[in-house]
Amino acid sequence: MTQSRIGQWSSRWLFILAATGSAVGLGNIWKFPYITGENGGGMFVLMYLGLILVIGIPVLMAEIMLGRRGGQSPVKSLEVVAQESGQPKTWGWLGFAGILTAFFLLSIYSVIAGWSASYVFRAFSGAFAGLDAQQIVMMYDSFIANPKQLMLWHTVFMGVTALIVSRGLQNGVETAIQILVPGLFIILLILVGYSITTPGFKEGVVFLFKPDFSMITASSFLLALGQAFFTLSIATASMLIYGAYLAKNASIFKAGCSIAVLDTLSALLAGLAIFPIVYTYGLLPDEGVGLVFKTLPLAFGEMPYGRMFGGLFFLLLVFAALGSSISMVEPIVAWVTQRWNIVRVKASWLVAGLIWLVGVGSVLSFNVWQDYRLFGRWNYYELLDDLVFMLLLPLGGLLIAIFAGWFMKRQFSFAELEMPPALYSLWRFSIRFLAPIAVIVLVIVTFM
Ligand code: PFF
Repeated sequence: MTQSRIGQWSSRWLFILAATGSAVGLGNIWKFPYITGENGGGMFVLMYLGLILVIGIPVLMAEIMLGRRGGQSPVKSLEVVAQESGQPKTWGWLGFAGILTAFFLLSIYSVIAGWSASYVFRAFSGAFAGLDAQQIVMMYDSFIANPKQLMLWHTVFMGVTALIVSRGLQNGVETAIQILVPGLFIILLILVGYSITTPGFKEGVVFLFKPDFSMITASSFLLALGQAFFTLSIATASMLIYGAYLAKNASIFKAGCSIAVLDTLSALLAGLAIFPIVYTYGLLPDEGVGLVFKTLPLAFGEMPYGRMFGGLFFLLLVFAALGSSISMVEPIVAWVTQRWNIVRVKASWLVAGLIWLVGVGSVLSFNVWQDYRLFGRWNYYELLDDLVFMLLLPLGGLLIAIFAGWFMKRQFSFAELEMPPALYSLWRFSIRFLAPIAVIVLVIVTFM
């Protein structure tokens, strides 16, 4: 490794904080509760936990490890690591694939994050008070039918992300993350504290933790696997770049476990905050995508101090989404600055601007372009969503596992991970066999 590294976190703790900020996102607060709700609760949670442990953590460690070993922007890091192990430089494409995944993912992620931002203001201003279920749904429907509104919030969200990243690793990313991540855990604890006092608490806990073995199906298993990758921010080059900034003497094993534990904790806390409220107000847990925007506001409209709790809840979503969006822009910006020698400020606004532009199509997919089908099947948003979730994320995770397990020399991964030999063997077994087999089964079953 001849070239100097491209940046370094001020401390190990900041790396864990930033990676946790990346991992905890809409996937934890918005998606995890609703897919758990749709898939029968406890059994799904159990499967998800198992998959995080057996496959998620090893692949997360692999991605951080590849980043740190390379110490460069994602494409270059993979080239460096590949060459060191006598492999062709073309592996750099895997870094590029991660960058593309982050690009497309953020273009849709930002739109939903924008909805959350808009709901912060609605909630704090008391807009849900006195509305019945139908009126809440109408509010949501008329909001997403309004392209100007969605565009405004999408723009604000991408603008804030660009502003943070443009200020640099220390001044921008580290500063923001030190507010966002503790902030989101504090809000979560306040909300769980409230939900403990509600009469539906017990029912919510039972729903979340009581496994019903009849609920194990192939499709819920695959959903849990996809969610495990997504929630740990695997395959978007985020962990490659965050790993590249990690000091050589930090333990990747400990860091990976800490990130996964904090991430899982936040998802469970989100479930604990949401389901008791759902049961207390006689709502349904399996409302799907709309759970957060169409179901919960009804409860916030009715409960005492609902303005405050509702506002805090949506603020939590925005905080979580921002930590994630920063981590999707950062690898792209690092690549652009290294590849084209552009200064960070320019690169940040350029990258965020392009993502914004691609996201405009998703904004319009909820209204004016809603029925405009591409390839006779998807609208624009659905196409990107499927491209990312069905193809790019699983394939990216698969290739990272295969590269780290089969192509990188054993001695190098062993040296980089510095784990006790028995644990290292378990890691390697998961990376070489469990993770690839699971993903291949996932892809085959999905496309059959
Ligand atoms: N882990 C994030 C979530 O659960 O919402 C999603 C995500 C963020 C994926 C950042 C990828 C990424 F680079």
